[in-house]
Amino acid sequence: MIALDTYFTSLSNGMPVDIKVQGPGAVKAFEEGKANYFMKRGQLNFSCATCHVAYAGKYLRAQIISPLLGQSAHYPTYRAAWGAVNTFEKRFQGCDKKVGAMPQKLESVNYRNLEYFMSYISNGIKINVPGYRP
Ligand code: HEC
Repeated sequence: MIALDTYFTSLSNGMPVDIKVQGPGAVKAFEEGKANYFMKRGQLNFSCATCHVAYAGKYLRAQIISPLLGQSAHYPTYRAAWGAVNTFEKRFQGCDKKVGAMPQKLESVNYRNLEYFMSYISNGIKINVPGYRP
């Protein structure tokens, strides 16, 4: 599935992300994803936005925290730490663990809604798959 996801997404390389939120089901999923993004969690009591909005550009140990804007456009990504290409949601699990929160299942409703909200935020950014991250 990761290989197929990477292949099909790469067919849109160079095109802008263009996520639409139309209809009550889509609006509900979007709003839930947004709420999830801003919800504090884990032993550190951080939300995704604490790091990727408020602290974006600052160092966390040796890494510079990236801004939410643009993240979705290069997934699936090859990550050196994984030694492989993997999905956007796989990355969420690592960040949940980092703040001492229970990582959720891949393709869970919560992660799908989170991915939907985050992808919408990158509307207009050109797709570039697979990306590379350390
Ligand atoms: C304690 C700070 C912190 C929190 C909270 C946090 N992250 Fe991260 N996140 C990082 C750091 C550090 C990295 C690695 C550097 C980078 O690429 O931004 C990272 C990387 C990522 C990446 C990869 C970015 C890329 O361009 O490849 C995604 C996607 C991501 N985080 C999503 C999330 C989501 C979703 C949440 C909430 C569930 C979250 N993060 C919470 C610190 C955090």
